[in-house]
Amino acid sequence: MFEALPEPKADAILSLMAAFRADTRTDKLDLGAGIYKDSQAKTPVMRAIKTAEKKLADTQDTKAYVSPTGSVPFCHAMIEQVFGRDADTSRIRAAQSVGGSGALRVLAELMKQGRPEANMWVSDPSWPNHVPLLKASGYQLYRYAYYDAASGQVNLDGMLASLSKAKEGDIVVLHGCCHNPTGADLTTDNWTRVIDLLEQKNLFPLVDLAYQGFGDGLEEDAAAVRMMASRLPEMVVAASCSKNLGLYRERVGAAMLVAQNDAEATRALGLLGGVIRANYSMPPDHGANATEIVLSDAALNADWRQELEAMRTRMIALRQSFSDAMRKRSNSDRFDYIAQQKGMFSRLPLNTQQLDTLREQHGIYIVGDGRINVAGLPEQGMDALADALCSVMADTTAAA
Ligand SMILES: Cc1ncc(COP(=O)(O)O)c(C=O)c1O
Repeated sequence: MFEALPEPKADAILSLMAAFRADTRTDKLDLGAGIYKDSQAKTPVMRAIKTAEKKLADTQDTKAYVSPTGSVPFCHAMIEQVFGRDADTSRIRAAQSVGGSGALRVLAELMKQGRPEANMWVSDPSWPNHVPLLKASGYQLYRYAYYDAASGQVNLDGMLASLSKAKEGDIVVLHGCCHNPTGADLTTDNWTRVIDLLEQKNLFPLVDLAYQGFGDGLEEDAAAVRMMASRLPEMVVAASCSKNLGLYRERVGAAMLVAQNDAEATRALGLLGGVIRANYSMPPDHGANATEIVLSDAALNADWRQELEAMRTRMIALRQSFSDAMRKRSNSDRFDYIAQQKGMFSRLPLNTQQLDTLREQHGIYIVGDGRINVAGLPEQGMDALADALCSVMADTTAAA
């Protein structure tokens, strides 16, 4: 059996995290891993979650199974968070999922039952794990143009041109906010044009909402999803609680669907429950239960929103000071885009050789595509970081 298996391919981000952990230098800097970090480079349990977990430990009186689609109150709370208080919930349903990744996987399998002939379109670039996660459902993946590296903006014309090649009924994977890995988001006008095209060509959106609350705010970051839900007959959303509730290892998310009407929504949710049952039977309970407590308790909800807002504004401040330091050291405005982008990531124009030098000589860890985790930027060491980056870029330019 096992001797016949090929060597596994290493995951670039996970390998970099392992190399960082093994590095004994005390002044090393991790800009690689996609997790939020505070000013002490820690990823703490959020205050409201801690309180909810204590409450859960004191009051939970059974560990009996819940159901393949998870807790109904959790799903209702997630629907309200993503679609808003005033949404027409008669055609919206949600299933508790194993993080955003689990939601993507089970939604893709459900769609494969509904539209087996469709192709799936993923942004170029995108979160690398989109490819294996979505391919596993049997879909053929195509890439659509998304990012203009020279300006740090979305290449809207390229995106529309690529998607105009999709065939009727194809599925388009869209980042609802805080695009990973570029940080370049569509503006409201851009979204209107993308949705016009989806409507004209009867394309089906699968929205990945992994960073709600990290961009412009909790409500603002859901605006694109809400616009799509109000204009399009059908869509699905993979929401994650990993980042905005800091629940990474607990594996909490929601697989959500908007159908044409109540009856179709109920049928689709029933089938989604079947997909879940055939994969892992039931989602884990603990993190979703704690989330449910936080979202439904007014005081805990307010405290969570406050902490999330502090994380968001901290990342905005880090973007600004990093972009200022890069402007000063590079003597150019080519890094100004970093301050304008959204969420936890931006990309730097670094090649493999430059990335190796940064890691080996400066202890700075950045993933292979130049993606940096903005939350990992050093509040007190911005000039030194900009020095290292600019010297590495200048060295290679001079050598070229
Ligand atoms: C764009 C994107 N989608 C989905 C996920 C999945 O998140 P999780 O499965 O941890 O909830 C991530 C995590 O990094 C992500 O960056």
